[in-house]
Amino acid sequence: VEKISVGLLGLGTVGSGVVQIIDQHQDKLMHQVGCEVKVRKILVSDIHKKRDVYLNGTRLTNDPSEVLNDPEIDVVIEVMGGVETTREYILQALRNKKHVVTANKDLMALYGSELLQTAVENQCDLFYEASVAGGIPILRSLVEGLASDRITKMMGIVNGTTNYILTKMSQEGRNYEEVLQEAKDLGYAEADPTSDVEGLDAARKIAILGTLGFSMHIDLDDVSVEGISHVSKEDLEYGDQLGYTMKLIGLANRTDDKVEISVQPTLVTHSHPLAAVHNEFNAVYVYGAAVGETMFYGPGAGKLPTATAVVSDLVEVVKNMRLGVNGNSAVIPQFEKNLKSPEE
Ligand code: NAP
Ligand code: HSE
Repeated sequence: VEKISVGLLGLGTVGSGVVQIIDQHQDKLMHQVGCEVKVRKILVSDIHKKRDVYLNGTRLTNDPSEVLNDPEIDVVIEVMGGVETTREYILQALRNKKHVVTANKDLMALYGSELLQTAVENQCDLFYEASVAGGIPILRSLVEGLASDRITKMMGIVNGTTNYILTKMSQEGRNYEEVLQEAKDLGYAEADPTSDVEGLDAARKIAILGTLGFSMHIDLDDVSVEGISHVSKEDLEYGDQLGYTMKLIGLANRTDDKVEISVQPTLVTHSHPLAAVHNEFNAVYVYGAAVGETMFYGPGAGKLPTATAVVSDLVEVVKNMRLGVNGNSAVIPQFEKNLKSPEE
């Protein structure tokens, strides 16, 4: 491989971070993968929009086939969001033998099994580390670092926007609407922030964590979900006076005969480590039967942290290309016997 050509779908918060990291960390990338990495084309909605990113000759297009059918493009990075159209694009990319990296939890929580299956059939990689907990490499930790253990429980803060809102409301006494707007301006919130504040974004992430951690298919409909849109400053103040901090907590718990998955606003004592996770940061406890308690902490949303996870997936794809092992992806759930598989 002399050069890796990347096609990007989307040049918003995450996409511009990806372009920036590939440009500014080119030496590191060369060292990792042994060749130049170049963004060849980028799909956007509006090619005339003013962009605050150095494009270095990369072409913008609003025609998806220019990226998906370009024989020069080796890897498609999907950072445009959305579900149905995006699913079609990714299927097309995989059928055209392009490896895919995505940050899209909505898509992976709904169509992950189908897309991963298509990737395997086409000997392509499909990686999605950035889809859960932004810059924290938690998916690979689950399927590689903790591969030998039996995960029994995962619990924590997996949405940056709501944690930002709760932090600013409780620490600075600010209004919900004002802080939500700030989270949008900072690029933490989804295009439609309803999914953040109503807990759906966290539900999708906890479904992905459950699927990977428990090696079983977790259906989104099985996640019980409550968001924070009804939480008032007064609720937070009362909680504070009683020694508690409110956090939106995702939980995936399994016993011998049962799995429970939920997202809900939860009061945690001031002394609990999750109470000290502020702003857009995420933290997830993972409990293994053998390892015991582990905790993963870091920025859960935002341009560069998320882009770091995306570009690290790209590095993994290129390393696999060199070894000729694409399609044996690490971040594919291996379903345990006697548990619900996606085909059932
Ligand atoms: P964003 O800022 O809204 O950017 C979306 C980009 O996609 C824009 O460049 C937009 O084009 C382009 N786009 C959207 N729909 C399109 C379509 N139908 N055809 C062509 N181009 C289209 O979104 P983002 O915050 O970067 O998020 C992107 C993805 O990453 C989402 O799946 C999100 O859930 C995920 N994610 C985001 C974060 C974060 O912190 N923001 C963290 C983890 C994961 P224009 O620029 O022309 O409008
Ligand atoms: N909107 C998401 C969040 C982006 O706030 O956590 C990261 O997935």
